[in-house]
Amino acid sequence: KKIMTNLKKVLQNAYKRHYAVGAFNTSNLEITQAILSASVKKKSPAIIATSPKAIDYAGGPKILAAMVKEASRGVTIPVVLHLDHSKTYELAKDCIDAGYTSVMFDGSRLPYNDNVRITKKVVKIAHAKGVSVEGEIGIIGGKEDYLKKRKIVLADPKIANDFTKKTGIDALAAAVGTAHGLAADAPERIDFSLLREINKIVKKPLVLHGASQGISDANIKKAIKEGIAKINIDTDLRVAFAKEVRALLKKNKTVYDPRAIIGSGRDGIMKTVEKKIAVFSSQNKA
Ligand code: G3H
Ligand code: ZN
Repeated sequence: KKIMTNLKKVLQNAYKRHYAVGAFNTSNLEITQAILSASVKKKSPAIIATSPKAIDYAGGPKILAAMVKEASRGVTIPVVLHLDHSKTYELAKDCIDAGYTSVMFDGSRLPYNDNVRITKKVVKIAHAKGVSVEGEIGIIGGKEDYLKKRKIVLADPKIANDFTKKTGIDALAAAVGTAHGLAADAPERIDFSLLREINKIVKKPLVLHGASQGISDANIKKAIKEGIAKINIDTDLRVAFAKEVRALLKKNKTVYDPRAIIGSGRDGIMKTVEKKIAVFSSQNKA
C-alpha cells in the first residue's frame, strides 16, 4: 500500500463524512515524528505541512521530503506532504520535483487575474504528477513565518466559486475571518453565514487557516459541518513545544543532552496533535 498520498482522497472522505484532517506544520525531525506518532496512535490520516521559511530553515525541500518519506516508512496511515503558503510558482515546482504530494499556491496578495493565472499554472504541473493543489481567496489575517501581518479581507462567495472553477484546485482556503498566530495578536472569529454560503456554491473541500487560537472547539466543529475538511495548525504546536522545553529547563538545571531537551518539546507537540485529532474527529479514519 502506498503511504505518501495527495490531499484529494484524504479530503474527499473528510468532506463527505464531516470530519477534518489537521495539517500540522513542521520544520525538523522531532516535530515530524510527533505529528506522525500522534496520527498513527489515533489512526488518523496525516497532513504534514512546511512553510517556505521552514524549507529555508531545513535547507531545501529535498531534505524535508526525504525526512518525511523515511519517517513514514512502515506506518499504516496515509501521509500527505504539503507545501504551505507558497508565494511563488518556482517554489511550488521545486517541491513537486522534490516529492511533495501536495502544494498550496497563495496568490492572495496578487490582483485576482494573476492569482488565477499562476494558480492554474501550478495546477497544471501538479496534476500531471498526481500532486494536489490548494489555492487562497480573500486574505487570511495575522502573521506566520514569511507572511507579514495583514488585515483580513473576507472571501466573496461568487469570486471563490469562479476561482475554484477556473483554476481546477482541489481545496480552497477562503478567508472567513480567522488569522494566523497568537490570539493576543490576532483576535479570531469565523463568519459562519459566509462560510455556509461559500460551501453551498463551491462544493469542494474548504481549508481553515489560522485555526490554532481564538476559536472554541465548538466553533471548530461547527465549521467542519459547514464544509471545512482541512484545518491548519502551527501556532499551537510552537506554543506546546516551548512550554515543555521551558518547564524542563526550569526543573532540571543540569540537563544538557539536546535529545532530552528537544524530546520534551516533541512530547508536548504529540499531545497537542492528539487533542486536535479528537476535536477534528479524524481518528480511526486512516
Ligand atoms: O498555514 C498555516 C496555518 O494557517 C497556521 O495557523 O497560526 O493559527 O496555527 P495558526
Ligand atoms: Zn495559513
